[in-house]
Order: sequence, then C-alpha cells, then structure tokens
Amino acid sequence: MDEIIRLMTEQLRDAYSAEKQALRAMPRMMKKASAQSLKDALQMHVEQTEGQVERLEKALELVGGKLGRKVCEGMRGIIEEGQSELEDYEKGPLLDTLIVAAQQRIEHYEIASYGTMAALAKVVGQQEVAKLLAETLQEERQTDEKLTQLAESELNPAAIKGAQSDEPANDRRSKRGAAA
Ligand SMILES: [Fe+2]
Repeated sequence: MDEIIRLMTEQLRDAYSAEKQALRAMPRMMKKASAQSLKDALQMHVEQTEGQVERLEKALELVGGKLGRKVCEGMRGIIEEGQSELEDYEKGPLLDTLIVAAQQRIEHYEIASYGTMAALAKVVGQQEVAKLLAETLQEERQTDEKLTQLAESELNPAAIKGAQSDEPANDRRSKRGAAA
C-alpha cells in the first residue's frame, strides 16, 4: 500500500507541475488567438485550471505528500512543440486551428493522467482524493469537447474559407521552407 501511495504522490506532483506549466502557456496562446470564442474558451480554462491546481494541493495533503520540485517533462515537451509551431504563423483562422490542436494535446495528456490517478486513488481507498481528481477529469474532458465543437462549427470552416480566398494566406511557413 505504501508503495502505491508513494507512486500516487509522484503522479500528483507531476500533474501539479503540468498544470502550472499549462497555466503559463494558455495566456500566451490567448494573445495569439483571433476568434473571440477561442479566447473565451481559453480564458475559462485558465480559471478552471487555477481550481485544479488547488485540488492537487488538497489531494497531496490528503495522501500526506509534499509539493516538491518535480518538473513534468511530458507537458514541457507538448507545450514547447505547440509553441514553436505557432511561431510559424501570423494571427488568423489558420493559427486559431493550430492553437486548438496545441491545447487539445495538453488536455489529452491531462485526461490520461487524471484518469490513472483517480483509478489508483480508488484502489487505495482514498475516496476524497478520487473525488477531487474525478472533478478535474470531468473539466478536462469538457474543455476538450468544447474545443472540438468550436473547431468543427467555427474555426475549421473559417480556416478553409481563408485558404480558398484570393487573399494571401496567413501561412508564413516561408520562414523555414519557401526559399527552397
Ligand atoms: Fe486542462
């Protein structure tokens, strides 16, 4: 049992680091977003994430663990890759779809981690911890779903329209490849 609690503590610390990193990344994406609906969705999730950080602090306390200085390398990679992709594009519909993709990768990573942790918490009889994690899991799933809906109903059609118009596309991949 102690082994599982130790493992859970590590997982919770990892998730804590992941959420903190996501909290820093989301405002940067919001600045690059054009569609108000996307900005609003990101802003709403920033607020949710602040609550999720608090739940993790509570969960760690409940299992008797401390915060520590663990860095979630998985989230670091996901964020870094997402940010560097966004740099290649100017503001506009295409960039908005990329922001959704970057944010959804973050959500999927979080969904996997909260799902595992909630299941472990149940197994070791940490019902309150399981409840906290399940609440966050639900929010992550809702955010993911919301982003899918936003992309399908508004952002993807706008990106396609932009790509088909005579206007110069807002794609600046040239920075890397067009000279060739
Ligand atoms: Fe999230």
